[in-house]
Amino acid sequence: MSFTQIDQAPPRVNRSELAVPGSNPRMLEKAAGSDADVVFYDLEDAVAPNEKDQARANVVAALNDLDFGEKTVSVRVNGLDTPHMYRDVIDVIEQGGERLDLIMFPKIGTAADVYAVDMLVTQVETAVGRQKRLGFELIIESALGLANADAIAGASPRNESLHFGVADYAASIKASTTQIGGPNPLYAVLTDPDEAGAREVHWGDMWHYAMSRIVVAARSNGLRPVDGPFGDFSDDDGYRYQANRGKVLGFEGKWAIHPKQIPLANEVFSPSEQELAKARAILVAMENAKAAGEGAVALDGKLIDLASIRQAEAMVAVAEKLGI
Ligand code: GLV
Ligand code: MG
Repeated sequence: MSFTQIDQAPPRVNRSELAVPGSNPRMLEKAAGSDADVVFYDLEDAVAPNEKDQARANVVAALNDLDFGEKTVSVRVNGLDTPHMYRDVIDVIEQGGERLDLIMFPKIGTAADVYAVDMLVTQVETAVGRQKRLGFELIIESALGLANADAIAGASPRNESLHFGVADYAASIKASTTQIGGPNPLYAVLTDPDEAGAREVHWGDMWHYAMSRIVVAARSNGLRPVDGPFGDFSDDDGYRYQANRGKVLGFEGKWAIHPKQIPLANEVFSPSEQELAKARAILVAMENAKAAGEGAVALDGKLIDLASIRQAEAMVAVAEKLGI
């Protein structure tokens, strides 16, 4: 282990993160009673320019009036390059009350962007005497943001999570895409011919580099990596596959752009029965080895290393939080 200790963001369950347009009061209300772990009310790209003021007022009212239960509540404000962001931040903090947990900032490109919004949030928070410190969710969704992901992730103690905004990212790097967050059949390789001369097309994951980059930037700064949208909400299997490959890479959750996607994200990002049984068995083996004064821990004839024990502890802690 390095002598450098990584401070971890406050722990939150973040399997599903529901995006809700701030312009639609009915959807704001439904989201509060949903099964999403995190709800973010959107003032940015889901809201038309002429609806920005009304959406802001709707969101402020919802934050004051609705019962969110145990959920984490967030608001996505507009970008730093717009005339809307300062007003979003000020109104939401001044008038939204204490229930808000996080603010989500889109299209973050540099560490200086985070510094600037931290200054604004800190001023407003102090001025209104807020009791609970607001955390930041930062969307990495441009070439600039990805290039600066490490510095961005470490730029404020308010940072809690990095999100992969695949739609804007694709536009920023001028990628050829067929649908939001899905694969493109042209991103593939052709196998060599087998004995009969047959060849196969193997699809690749065109988002792999960006996702891996975000996981490393997030984890090396103690933040949660969260995968962004999958556009085709009628394709459950497609969503599951995209979510699973994020989970395998180390992501903690995925956006739901439609309530239908909430149970899919919750299912994929909860530890499975099998994974949990193994994690619990590892912890029992560790306790037994300790009681017997043995340094090495073994399970089913295989040595268990310290990294596996830590992973098992983390998984059991999450399961306890989820009540599984
Ligand atoms: C999310 O904001 C995205 O651009 O994918
Ligand atoms: Mg975006």
